Amino acid sequence: MKTIISKINEKDIDLDEIKKQGKLLSEGKTVIFPTETVYGLGANALDENAVKKIYEAKGRPSDNPLIVHIYNKEEVYDLANDINEKAKEVMNKFWPGPITIILNKKSIVPYTTSGGLETVAIRMPSHKIAREIIKQAGVPIAAPSANISGRPSPTKANHVYEEMNGRVDGIVLGGDSNFGLESTVLDLTSNTPMILRPGSITKEDLEKVIGEVQIDPSLAKKEDNKKAKAPGMKYTHYSPDADVFIVSGNEDAIISKINDLTIENTSKGLNTGVMCLNKNKDKYKATSIGLGDTLEEVASNLFDILREMDKNNIDIVYSEEFPNKGVGQAIMNRLLKSAGYKIIKA
Ligand code: TXA
Ligand code: MG
Repeated sequence: MKTIISKINEKDIDLDEIKKQGKLLSEGKTVIFPTETVYGLGANALDENAVKKIYEAKGRPSDNPLIVHIYNKEEVYDLANDINEKAKEVMNKFWPGPITIILNKKSIVPYTTSGGLETVAIRMPSHKIAREIIKQAGVPIAAPSANISGRPSPTKANHVYEEMNGRVDGIVLGGDSNFGLESTVLDLTSNTPMILRPGSITKEDLEKVIGEVQIDPSLAKKEDNKKAKAPGMKYTHYSPDADVFIVSGNEDAIISKINDLTIENTSKGLNTGVMCLNKNKDKYKATSIGLGDTLEEVASNLFDILREMDKNNIDIVYSEEFPNKGVGQAIMNRLLKSAGYKIIKA
């Protein structure tokens, strides 16, 4: 397939290019575009045939539902029923932004989009290019992360270009994502709201606005993961070709454990890579890549560095463990999935 590529600068948007890509979407075609979280692979959410093209391009199981992206808050009322007070408060406080809400769907949303469920996931992104594209398309846009199913989500223009050119009708190359991890997914269909996927809007942020919020307990352990309420959290995910492990313990113990393992790997002819805080970069014997100084930086660099490890022909990746609080919950959720829940105690 010939992919129409548009390069767009978020600070100086070329409306003609946006219109060209928006038109593809309105004709039932697929277009990849940047958002503030990760790049999304979009198609008309209300057109089953268009949505099927998303599943094909990603190689995604068809029981894994898609997020519907909207331009105006009011569009929620066209797509969902039973919009309660908590939903309204979340929409007012956090939209446009990196949070997706799950509500009971109206019949206008095809089961192809909702993965056969009676609920629908909705998000109003804040990224200027994403917003303009949805506006030009004139329809709500279903958009999962724009990676081949199982791979790390794309956060930079070159990720989508290298992986998806030729697989979709259009690609908008628009710089780096701001957050680097996918949106928080919040189920608002029962009495106590539940986070089905942690993101940069945290449990603490939400509790200030809507009171008690739970986190899906099945996210923490491999044995429970099959029961995850967001179908997407059940699948292998965020996997580079390298085998990933998380090393946990106190900082000095982590460093010496990883250095011991590196010597062992080298003797077997295996290349070792380490993902760590910048301040620890020089303490490792292996190829170490700094994820950042703060948790926000770690979140924004994680998927890029997982891809970077493959480019460096790394066989085994060790990641330092991060505190499971605030944004750290989203980081540890993605790292655990990427490592297939393999943790080494230092
Ligand atoms: O940041 C994001 O959310 C990005 C950008 C492009 O907006 N999109 C994204 O979509 O991450 P995707 O498809 O990769 O992840 C959607 C997650 C999956 O885990 C899916 O199972 C879950 O949301 N989900 C969607 N609809 C659902 C529903 N009705 N009930 C439960 N989980 C749902
Ligand atoms: Mg995804």
